[in-house]
Amino acid sequence: MSTLLAQLAELQERALAALAQADSSEAMRTWHSEYVGRKGQLTTLLGGLGQLPREERPAVGKVANEIKVALESALEERQAAITADEMTRSLSAEGVDVTLPGRQPLLGRYHPTTTALREISDIFVQMGFQIYDAPEVETDELNFGLLNFPPGHPAREMQDTFFTTNPDVILRTHTSPGQIRAMREYAPEPVRVILPGKCYRNEDVTARAEMMFYQVEVMVIDKNITFSDLKGVILNYANQMYGEGRDIRFRKSYFPFTEPSVEIDVDCVLCGGKGCRMCKYSGWLEIMGAGMIHPVVLQNGGYDPAVYSGFAAGMGIERQAILKRSIDDIRLFYDNDVRFLERVAK
Ligand code: PHE
Repeated sequence: MSTLLAQLAELQERALAALAQADSSEAMRTWHSEYVGRKGQLTTLLGGLGQLPREERPAVGKVANEIKVALESALEERQAAITADEMTRSLSAEGVDVTLPGRQPLLGRYHPTTTALREISDIFVQMGFQIYDAPEVETDELNFGLLNFPPGHPAREMQDTFFTTNPDVILRTHTSPGQIRAMREYAPEPVRVILPGKCYRNEDVTARAEMMFYQVEVMVIDKNITFSDLKGVILNYANQMYGEGRDIRFRKSYFPFTEPSVEIDVDCVLCGGKGCRMCKYSGWLEIMGAGMIHPVVLQNGGYDPAVYSGFAAGMGIERQAILKRSIDDIRLFYDNDVRFLERVAK
């Protein structure tokens, strides 16, 4: 008996020492099956109980049972300590540092073409213009014929055209065909509209030219409209778009649908006219084509040129953005590079 009791006492001591070393839930489980589980050392040791004289068995059995209860409660205690410890460790290792700066989500921005179009529209709307929408797919007749480009006329080559399979249906090369559409809707009433939209030209793509670009057409028709009206409207536009105190100048030009025709320049937005790289040392930047509407075009639109006169102008929207925001390449507009959009967005 004494041997078995001594073995039990030794086992308890060993088990407790091992438990003190166990430092994880995993080690706890191993420890439990090693010492107190169904196949553990305590069970094995108690297998020897049968060898003892009958009257000694209850006393040893009692001691063995007490040891088992003691070991199990020691396990529970140790388990609680380990769990708390593991919690502390995982909290410090995987915890959320609420003081870290957050990641800034990318915000959407307006495309510079949109911004420029809105600025242009606002300026003309303030002057009493309405916005008129005309289609991008046009007939040859509207894009050229009714604008006084006779068939085969060399002026057609100023604007290299994209055709559809039907040669009479094309992608408009400018917003000017909208002039005829608006005239035919308003004639013989006076009209004051801008016509913004996409245009297409089958041109080599360079820093200055894209195949697809935006224009805004400006058109005024009434009795007694003169070149001075054109000048006043465009000077007002230039002052609002490019800053007060702007100067504009006219250079003679040619368009089949205006007579006289001009190209309009604004004094360089960068150097104010002194001469710099932006204006190629001329002091001036071209902003649009314009002129008095040709009598034949007025007639095609339904106005009597003996009674009515008008002016028209056409400007590239990207061109306005390029000048205003010092962008050096029109191809950037439609490359979809978000760094460009972020740089030029206001
Ligand atoms: N449509 C011309 C172009 O695209 C511009 C223009 C419009 C010129 C209106 C005169 C009047 O080049």
